[in-house]
Amino acid sequence: MKLMVVGGGGREHAIIKKLKQNPNVTRIYALPGNGGIAKDAMCIPIGAKDIDGIVRFAVNNGIDYAVVAPDDPLVLGCVDALEAEGIPCFGPRANAAIIEGSKVFSKNLMKKYGIPTARYEVFTDMEKALAYVKTAPIPTVIKADGLALGKGVIIAGTRGEAEDAIREMMQDHKFGKSGDQVVIEEFLTGPEVSVLAFTDGKTVKPMVSSMDHKRAGDNDTGLNTGGMGTVAPNPYYTPDVADVCMKTIFLPTIAAMNAEGRTFKGCLYFGLMITPDGPKVIEYNCRFGDPETQVVLPLLESDLLTVMQATTNGTLAETEVKFRDAHACCVIMASAGYPVSYGKGYEITMPDDIADSVYVAGAAEKDGRLVTSGGRVLGVTAVADSLSEAIDAAYGKVSRIHFDNQFCRRDIGQRALKAGKEN
Ligand code: AMP
Ligand code: GLY
Repeated sequence: MKLMVVGGGGREHAIIKKLKQNPNVTRIYALPGNGGIAKDAMCIPIGAKDIDGIVRFAVNNGIDYAVVAPDDPLVLGCVDALEAEGIPCFGPRANAAIIEGSKVFSKNLMKKYGIPTARYEVFTDMEKALAYVKTAPIPTVIKADGLALGKGVIIAGTRGEAEDAIREMMQDHKFGKSGDQVVIEEFLTGPEVSVLAFTDGKTVKPMVSSMDHKRAGDNDTGLNTGGMGTVAPNPYYTPDVADVCMKTIFLPTIAAMNAEGRTFKGCLYFGLMITPDGPKVIEYNCRFGDPETQVVLPLLESDLLTVMQATTNGTLAETEVKFRDAHACCVIMASAGYPVSYGKGYEITMPDDIADSVYVAGAAEKDGRLVTSGGRVLGVTAVADSLSEAIDAAYGKVSRIHFDNQFCRRDIGQRALKAGKEN
Protein backbone atom coordinates (compact mmCIF):
# COMPACT_ATOMS: atom_id res chain seq x y z
CA MET A 1 0.00 0.00 0.00
CA LYS A 2 1.10 3.50 -0.79
CA LEU A 3 0.26 6.05 1.89
CA MET A 4 0.42 9.82 1.94
CA VAL A 5 0.68 11.87 5.14
CA VAL A 6 -0.06 15.59 4.86
CA GLY A 7 1.96 17.75 7.28
CA GLY A 8 5.55 18.18 8.39
CA GLY A 9 6.06 18.31 12.16
CA GLY A 10 6.75 16.04 15.11
CA ARG A 11 3.17 14.82 15.17
CA GLU A 12 3.40 13.70 11.56
CA HIS A 13 6.74 12.01 12.27
CA ALA A 14 5.13 10.01 15.10
CA ILE A 15 2.21 9.04 12.84
CA ILE A 16 4.57 7.95 10.06
CA LYS A 17 6.79 5.87 12.35
CA LYS A 18 3.69 4.06 13.61
CA LEU A 19 2.17 3.54 10.15
CA LYS A 20 5.46 2.02 8.98
CA GLN A 21 4.96 -0.87 11.40
CA ASN A 22 2.20 -2.29 9.18
CA PRO A 23 3.83 -4.87 6.86
CA ASN A 24 1.44 -4.03 4.00
CA VAL A 25 2.78 -0.49 3.77
CA THR A 26 5.27 -0.32 0.92
CA ARG A 27 5.78 3.44 0.72
CA ILE A 28 4.89 6.58 2.66
CA TYR A 29 5.02 10.05 1.16
CA ALA A 30 5.10 13.08 3.46
CA LEU A 31 3.83 16.41 2.10
CA PRO A 32 5.96 18.37 2.83
CA GLY A 33 7.59 16.36 5.68
CA ASN A 34 10.93 17.66 6.97
CA GLY A 35 14.61 16.76 7.09
CA GLY A 36 14.10 14.26 9.90
CA ILE A 37 10.94 12.69 8.50
CA ALA A 38 12.98 12.07 5.32
CA LYS A 39 14.58 9.08 7.11
CA ASP A 40 11.16 7.38 7.39
CA ALA A 41 9.21 8.65 4.38
CA MET A 42 9.72 10.20 0.97
CA CYS A 43 9.29 13.96 1.44
CA ILE A 44 7.61 15.89 -1.36
CA PRO A 45 7.85 19.70 -1.36
CA ILE A 46 4.12 20.39 -1.50
CA GLY A 47 2.78 22.58 1.32
CA ALA A 48 0.03 21.33 3.62
CA LYS A 49 -2.28 24.18 2.51
CA ASP A 50 -1.80 23.53 -1.22
CA ILE A 51 -4.96 21.45 -1.61
CA ASP A 52 -4.81 21.33 -5.43
CA GLY A 53 -1.16 20.26 -5.31
CA ILE A 54 -1.88 17.57 -2.72
CA VAL A 55 -4.78 16.11 -4.72
CA ARG A 56 -2.80 16.18 -7.97
CA PHE A 57 0.10 14.38 -6.29
CA ALA A 58 -2.18 11.73 -4.78
CA VAL A 59 -3.91 11.02 -8.09
CA ASN A 60 -0.68 10.91 -10.11
CA ASN A 61 1.05 8.60 -7.63
CA GLY A 62 -1.69 6.06 -7.00
CA ILE A 63 -2.10 6.81 -3.29
CA ASP A 64 -4.18 4.09 -1.59
CA TYR A 65 -4.84 5.93 1.68
CA ALA A 66 -4.22 9.49 2.86
CA VAL A 67 -3.79 10.86 6.36
CA VAL A 68 -4.45 14.58 6.67
CA ALA A 69 -2.92 15.59 10.00
CA PRO A 70 -2.88 19.42 10.44
CA ASP A 71 -5.88 21.68 11.07
CA ASP A 72 -5.40 24.02 8.09
CA PRO A 73 -5.86 21.49 5.26
CA LEU A 74 -8.74 19.82 7.13
CA VAL A 75 -10.57 23.14 7.53
CA LEU A 76 -9.79 23.97 3.87
CA GLY A 77 -11.49 20.76 2.68
CA CYS A 78 -8.49 18.56 1.84
CA VAL A 79 -10.40 15.39 2.76
CA ASP A 80 -13.40 16.41 0.65
CA ALA A 81 -11.13 17.10 -2.33
CA LEU A 82 -9.27 13.77 -2.02
CA GLU A 83 -12.50 11.80 -1.56
CA ALA A 84 -13.91 13.44 -4.69
CA GLU A 85 -11.04 11.70 -6.54
CA GLY A 86 -11.87 8.39 -4.86
CA ILE A 87 -8.95 8.44 -2.39
CA PRO A 88 -9.93 7.21 1.09
CA CYS A 89 -8.72 9.47 3.88
CA PHE A 90 -8.21 9.69 7.61
CA GLY A 91 -9.64 12.97 8.88
CA PRO A 92 -12.90 14.91 8.95
CA ARG A 93 -14.49 16.68 6.01
CA ALA A 94 -14.53 20.50 6.10
CA ASN A 95 -18.11 20.65 7.39
CA ALA A 96 -16.99 18.69 10.49
CA ALA A 97 -13.50 20.25 10.83
CA ILE A 98 -15.36 23.49 11.63
CA ILE A 99 -15.54 22.15 15.20
CA GLU A 100 -11.96 23.46 15.45
CA GLY A 101 -12.13 26.03 12.65
CA SER A 102 -14.75 28.19 14.38
CA LYS A 103 -14.93 28.69 18.12
CA VAL A 104 -18.34 30.36 17.67
CA PHE A 105 -19.57 27.17 16.00
CA SER A 106 -18.19 24.88 18.71
CA LYS A 107 -19.46 27.03 21.59
CA ASN A 108 -22.94 27.24 20.06
CA LEU A 109 -22.89 23.47 19.46
CA MET A 110 -22.08 22.81 23.11
CA LYS A 111 -24.77 25.21 24.30
CA LYS A 112 -27.43 23.71 21.98
CA TYR A 113 -26.67 20.12 23.03
CA GLY A 114 -25.94 20.72 26.71
CA ILE A 115 -22.25 19.75 26.60
CA PRO A 116 -20.41 21.25 29.62
CA THR A 117 -18.20 24.21 28.75
CA ALA A 118 -17.39 27.72 30.04
CA ARG A 119 -20.25 30.27 29.85
CA TYR A 120 -19.69 32.71 26.99
CA GLU A 121 -20.92 35.52 24.76
CA VAL A 122 -20.18 36.03 21.05
CA PHE A 123 -19.41 39.47 19.60
CA THR A 124 -19.20 40.73 16.03
CA ASP A 125 -19.24 44.39 17.11
CA MET A 126 -16.13 45.69 18.85
CA GLU A 127 -17.90 48.42 20.84
CA LYS A 128 -20.30 45.87 22.29
CA ALA A 129 -17.39 43.58 23.23
CA LEU A 130 -15.59 46.50 24.92
CA ALA A 131 -18.76 47.46 26.81
CA TYR A 132 -19.24 43.84 27.94
CA VAL A 133 -15.78 43.49 29.50
CA LYS A 134 -16.35 46.66 31.55
CA THR A 135 -18.52 44.55 33.88
CA ALA A 136 -17.41 40.96 33.12
CA PRO A 137 -15.75 39.02 35.94
CA ILE A 138 -11.94 39.18 35.82
CA PRO A 139 -9.94 37.19 34.77
CA THR A 140 -11.82 36.76 31.54
CA VAL A 141 -10.92 34.81 28.41
CA ILE A 142 -10.95 36.35 24.92
CA LYS A 143 -10.84 33.99 21.93
CA ALA A 144 -10.62 34.77 18.22
CA ASP A 145 -13.23 32.77 16.31
CA GLY A 146 -11.00 31.19 13.68
CA LEU A 147 -7.63 29.42 13.48
CA ALA A 148 -4.81 31.56 14.86
CA LEU A 149 -1.78 29.24 15.08
CA GLY A 150 -2.69 28.45 18.68
CA LYS A 151 -2.26 32.12 19.66
CA GLY A 152 -5.88 33.29 19.49
CA VAL A 153 -6.66 32.81 23.19
CA ILE A 154 -5.91 35.59 25.69
CA ILE A 155 -6.43 35.13 29.42
CA ALA A 156 -6.96 38.74 30.52
CA GLY A 157 -6.02 39.37 34.15
CA THR A 158 -7.21 43.00 34.05
CA ARG A 159 -9.91 44.93 32.18
CA GLY A 160 -7.17 46.84 30.34
CA GLU A 161 -5.68 43.58 29.01
CA ALA A 162 -9.13 42.43 27.93
CA GLU A 163 -9.72 45.69 26.04
CA ASP A 164 -6.29 45.48 24.38
CA ALA A 165 -6.96 41.90 23.27
CA ILE A 166 -10.34 42.84 21.79
CA ARG A 167 -8.83 45.81 19.90
CA GLU A 168 -5.95 43.70 18.58
CA MET A 169 -8.32 41.05 17.27
CA MET A 170 -11.23 43.16 16.02
CA GLN A 171 -9.63 46.48 15.05
CA ASP A 172 -5.99 45.67 14.20
CA HIS A 173 -6.93 42.28 12.68
CA LYS A 174 -3.94 40.60 14.34
CA PHE A 175 -5.29 37.20 13.27
CA GLY A 176 -6.87 38.39 10.01
CA LYS A 177 -10.44 37.28 9.49
CA SER A 178 -10.13 34.85 12.43
CA GLY A 179 -10.75 37.83 14.74
CA ASP A 180 -13.86 39.22 12.99
CA GLN A 181 -15.87 37.50 15.70
CA VAL A 182 -14.69 36.95 19.25
CA VAL A 183 -15.88 34.71 22.04
CA ILE A 184 -15.58 36.12 25.56
CA GLU A 185 -15.87 33.41 28.14
CA GLU A 186 -15.79 32.55 31.79
CA PHE A 187 -12.37 31.76 33.26
CA LEU A 188 -12.32 28.17 34.49
CA THR A 189 -9.87 26.55 36.87
CA GLY A 190 -8.61 23.03 37.32
CA PRO A 191 -6.10 20.64 35.79
CA GLU A 192 -6.15 20.23 32.01
CA VAL A 193 -6.37 16.89 30.24
CA SER A 194 -6.02 16.14 26.54
CA VAL A 195 -8.01 13.20 25.20
CA LEU A 196 -7.61 12.23 21.57
CA ALA A 197 -10.33 9.90 20.35
CA PHE A 198 -10.79 7.83 17.22
CA THR A 199 -14.29 8.03 15.81
CA ASP A 200 -16.09 6.80 12.70
CA GLY A 201 -19.09 9.01 13.44
CA LYS A 202 -20.91 6.22 15.30
CA THR A 203 -18.45 4.78 17.79
CA VAL A 204 -15.90 6.76 19.76
CA LYS A 205 -12.77 5.09 21.16
CA PRO A 206 -10.67 7.41 23.33
CA MET A 207 -6.93 6.96 23.30
CA VAL A 208 -4.80 7.06 26.42
CA SER A 209 -5.09 10.51 28.06
CA SER A 210 -2.21 12.97 28.12
CA MET A 211 -0.97 16.22 29.64
CA ASP A 212 0.58 19.05 27.62
CA HIS A 213 2.98 21.68 29.00
CA LYS A 214 2.17 24.83 27.07
CA ARG A 215 4.34 27.50 28.69
CA ALA A 216 7.94 28.02 27.61
CA GLY A 217 9.44 28.05 31.11
CA ASP A 218 9.71 25.66 34.05
CA ASN A 219 6.81 25.67 36.54
CA ASP A 220 4.44 26.94 33.83
CA THR A 221 6.05 30.36 33.50
CA GLY A 222 6.76 32.40 30.38
CA LEU A 223 4.97 32.62 27.07
CA ASN A 224 2.53 30.15 25.59
CA THR A 225 4.06 27.83 23.02
CA GLY A 226 2.90 25.07 20.71
CA GLY A 227 3.72 22.67 23.58
CA MET A 228 7.05 21.98 25.34
CA GLY A 229 6.40 18.40 26.37
CA THR A 230 3.78 15.82 27.25
CA VAL A 231 3.18 12.80 29.42
CA ALA A 232 0.66 9.97 29.12
CA PRO A 233 -1.46 8.84 30.81
CA ASN A 234 -2.68 11.94 32.67
CA PRO A 235 -3.18 11.14 36.40
CA TYR A 236 -6.10 13.58 36.65
CA TYR A 237 -8.03 11.47 34.15
CA THR A 238 -9.17 8.82 36.61
CA PRO A 239 -11.59 6.03 35.58
CA ASP A 240 -14.44 8.01 37.22
CA VAL A 241 -13.58 11.16 35.27
CA ALA A 242 -13.31 9.07 32.09
CA ASP A 243 -16.83 7.70 32.65
CA VAL A 244 -18.27 11.17 33.15
CA CYS A 245 -16.48 12.44 30.03
CA MET A 246 -17.80 9.59 27.92
CA LYS A 247 -21.40 10.21 29.04
CA THR A 248 -21.49 14.01 29.16
CA ILE A 249 -18.95 15.01 26.51
CA PHE A 250 -17.68 12.38 24.04
CA LEU A 251 -20.90 10.61 23.05
CA PRO A 252 -23.00 13.82 23.10
CA THR A 253 -20.46 15.55 20.82
CA ILE A 254 -20.53 12.73 18.24
CA ALA A 255 -24.36 12.73 18.37
CA ALA A 256 -24.52 16.53 18.10
CA MET A 257 -22.32 16.56 15.00
CA ASN A 258 -24.52 13.88 13.40
CA ALA A 259 -27.68 15.82 14.30
CA GLU A 260 -26.17 18.87 12.60
CA GLY A 261 -25.46 16.85 9.43
CA ARG A 262 -21.72 17.17 10.09
CA THR A 263 -20.63 13.60 10.89
CA PHE A 264 -17.10 13.67 12.29
CA LYS A 265 -14.64 10.93 11.27
CA GLY A 266 -10.99 10.80 12.23
CA CYS A 267 -9.34 11.95 15.44
CA LEU A 268 -11.34 14.31 17.63
CA TYR A 269 -9.25 16.03 20.27
CA PHE A 270 -10.99 17.02 23.48
CA GLY A 271 -9.16 19.73 25.44
CA LEU A 272 -10.71 19.31 28.88
CA MET A 273 -10.50 21.08 32.20
CA ILE A 274 -11.40 19.11 35.32
CA THR A 275 -13.18 21.92 37.19
CA PRO A 276 -14.69 21.72 40.68
CA ASP A 277 -18.05 21.29 38.85
CA GLY A 278 -16.78 18.39 36.77
CA PRO A 279 -15.04 18.05 33.40
CA LYS A 280 -15.69 20.82 30.86
CA VAL A 281 -14.58 21.34 27.27
CA ILE A 282 -11.98 24.08 26.82
CA GLU A 283 -11.56 23.39 23.11
CA TYR A 284 -12.06 20.85 20.37
CA ASN A 285 -9.44 20.14 17.74
CA CYS A 286 -10.27 18.24 14.57
CA ARG A 287 -6.96 16.35 14.56
CA PHE A 288 -4.22 14.69 16.57
CA GLY A 289 -2.55 17.00 19.11
CA ASP A 290 1.08 18.04 18.90
CA PRO A 291 3.04 17.02 21.03
CA GLU A 292 0.35 14.72 22.53
CA THR A 293 0.68 12.32 19.58
CA GLN A 294 4.36 11.83 20.44
CA VAL A 295 3.38 10.16 23.74
CA VAL A 296 0.03 8.60 22.76
CA LEU A 297 1.05 6.66 19.64
CA PRO A 298 4.14 5.04 21.19
CA LEU A 299 1.71 3.46 23.70
CA LEU A 300 -0.68 2.19 21.01
CA GLU A 301 -0.45 -1.57 20.72
CA SER A 302 -2.98 -1.98 17.91
CA ASP A 303 -2.02 -1.35 14.30
CA LEU A 304 -2.54 2.34 13.53
CA LEU A 305 -3.39 1.92 9.85
CA THR A 306 -6.07 -0.68 10.67
CA VAL A 307 -7.66 1.65 13.22
CA MET A 308 -7.50 4.63 10.88
CA GLN A 309 -9.12 2.67 8.07
CA ALA A 310 -11.87 1.56 10.49
CA THR A 311 -12.74 5.23 11.11
CA THR A 312 -13.04 5.73 7.36
CA ASN A 313 -15.06 2.55 6.75
CA GLY A 314 -17.37 2.87 9.74
CA THR A 315 -16.11 -0.33 11.39
CA LEU A 316 -14.54 1.12 14.52
CA ALA A 317 -16.96 -0.77 16.82
CA GLU A 318 -15.46 -4.10 15.66
CA THR A 319 -11.85 -2.87 15.67
CA GLU A 320 -9.61 -3.24 18.67
CA VAL A 321 -7.89 -0.09 19.92
CA LYS A 322 -5.52 -1.22 22.63
CA PHE A 323 -2.93 0.72 24.60
CA ARG A 324 0.04 -0.55 26.58
CA ASP A 325 -0.26 -0.29 30.33
CA ALA A 326 2.84 1.91 30.55
CA HIS A 327 3.89 5.56 30.75
CA ALA A 328 5.38 7.87 28.15
CA CYS A 329 7.15 11.22 28.41
CA CYS A 330 8.10 13.52 25.52
CA VAL A 331 10.50 16.43 26.03
CA ILE A 332 10.62 19.09 23.33
CA MET A 333 14.10 20.37 22.49
CA ALA A 334 13.77 23.93 21.16
CA SER A 335 16.00 26.69 19.89
CA ALA A 336 16.77 29.48 22.40
CA GLY A 337 14.42 32.41 21.88
CA TYR A 338 11.42 30.26 20.90
CA PRO A 339 8.49 31.15 20.79
CA VAL A 340 9.56 34.69 19.80
CA SER A 341 12.66 34.70 17.59
CA TYR A 342 15.42 32.17 17.27
CA GLY A 343 18.33 31.22 15.04
CA LYS A 344 18.24 28.40 12.49
CA GLY A 345 20.73 26.17 10.76
CA TYR A 346 22.46 24.65 13.81
CA GLU A 347 23.73 21.14 13.21
CA ILE A 348 21.97 18.40 15.20
CA THR A 349 23.88 15.34 16.33
CA MET A 350 22.33 12.30 17.99
CA PRO A 351 23.34 8.67 18.51
CA ASP A 352 21.68 6.15 16.15
CA ASP A 353 20.36 3.97 18.97
CA ILE A 354 17.83 6.61 20.09
CA ALA A 355 16.71 7.86 16.66
CA ASP A 356 13.60 5.65 16.73
CA SER A 357 12.06 7.60 19.58
CA VAL A 358 13.04 11.08 18.38
CA TYR A 359 10.34 12.90 16.44
CA VAL A 360 11.64 15.70 14.29
CA ALA A 361 9.55 18.88 14.36
CA GLY A 362 11.75 21.53 12.78
CA ALA A 363 14.88 20.37 10.98
CA ALA A 364 16.14 20.35 7.42
CA GLU A 365 18.72 18.28 5.60
CA LYS A 366 21.73 20.27 4.44
CA ASP A 367 24.71 18.62 2.72
CA GLY A 368 23.85 15.31 4.37
CA ARG A 369 23.59 16.88 7.84
CA LEU A 370 20.48 17.55 9.90
CA VAL A 371 20.19 21.25 10.85
CA THR A 372 17.56 23.12 12.85
CA SER A 373 14.90 24.93 10.83
CA GLY A 374 12.25 25.77 13.42
CA GLY A 375 11.69 26.88 17.00
CA ARG A 376 10.60 23.50 18.25
CA VAL A 377 13.22 21.16 16.85
CA LEU A 378 12.84 17.66 18.31
CA GLY A 379 10.43 15.70 20.50
CA VAL A 380 12.30 13.08 22.51
CA THR A 381 10.08 10.30 23.87
CA ALA A 382 10.66 7.46 26.29
CA VAL A 383 8.26 4.71 27.40
CA ALA A 384 8.63 2.90 30.73
CA ASP A 385 6.64 1.04 33.36
CA SER A 386 6.42 4.07 35.63
CA LEU A 387 6.16 7.79 34.98
CA SER A 388 9.33 8.61 36.90
CA GLU A 389 11.30 6.09 34.82
CA ALA A 390 9.82 7.48 31.59
CA ILE A 391 10.81 11.04 32.62
CA ASP A 392 14.36 9.98 33.54
CA ALA A 393 14.75 8.01 30.33
CA ALA A 394 13.49 10.90 28.17
CA TYR A 395 15.92 13.36 29.80
CA GLY A 396 18.67 10.75 29.51
CA LYS A 397 18.16 10.74 25.74
CA VAL A 398 17.98 14.54 25.64
CA SER A 399 21.43 14.71 27.23
CA ARG A 400 22.85 12.69 24.33
CA ILE A 401 21.51 15.04 21.62
CA HIS A 402 23.29 18.26 20.72
CA PHE A 403 22.72 21.45 18.80
CA ASP A 404 23.83 24.99 19.56
CA ASN A 405 21.53 27.24 21.59
CA GLN A 406 19.17 24.42 22.49
CA PHE A 407 16.85 24.63 25.47
CA CYS A 408 14.15 22.47 26.97
CA ARG A 409 11.96 22.59 30.04
CA ARG A 410 13.51 20.58 32.86
CA ASP A 411 10.22 19.82 34.61
CA ILE A 412 8.16 17.91 32.05
CA GLY A 413 6.03 15.39 33.94
CA GLN A 414 6.71 16.78 37.43
CA ARG A 415 3.16 18.02 37.94
CA ALA A 416 1.78 14.65 36.83
CA LEU A 417 4.23 12.85 39.10
CA LYS A 418 3.02 14.89 42.09
CA ALA A 419 -0.64 14.41 41.19
CA GLY A 420 -0.13 10.68 40.71
CA LYS A 421 1.25 10.40 44.23
CA GLU A 422 -1.69 12.36 45.67
CA ASN A 423 -4.36 10.33 43.88
P1 AMP B 1 -6.46 26.95 23.34
O1 AMP B 1 -5.60 27.75 22.38
O2 AMP B 1 -7.91 26.99 23.04
O3 AMP B 1 -5.87 25.59 23.57
O4 AMP B 1 -6.31 27.66 24.75
C1 AMP B 1 -5.05 27.84 25.27
C2 AMP B 1 -5.08 27.67 26.75
O5 AMP B 1 -5.84 28.72 27.33
C3 AMP B 1 -5.77 26.41 27.24
O6 AMP B 1 -4.95 25.29 27.21
C4 AMP B 1 -6.11 26.82 28.66
O7 AMP B 1 -4.98 26.67 29.49
C5 AMP B 1 -6.43 28.27 28.53
N1 AMP B 1 -7.88 28.50 28.48
C6 AMP B 1 -8.67 28.51 27.39
N2 AMP B 1 -9.95 28.75 27.74
C7 AMP B 1 -9.96 28.90 29.09
C8 AMP B 1 -10.99 29.17 30.07
N3 AMP B 1 -12.27 29.36 29.72
N4 AMP B 1 -10.62 29.25 31.37
C9 AMP B 1 -9.33 29.09 31.73
N5 AMP B 1 -8.33 28.85 30.88
C10 AMP B 1 -8.64 28.75 29.57
N1 GLY C 1 -1.04 20.47 22.01
C1 GLY C 1 -2.14 21.27 21.66
C2 GLY C 1 -2.61 21.12 20.28
O1 GLY C 1 -2.22 20.25 19.55
O2 GLY C 1 -3.46 21.91 19.89
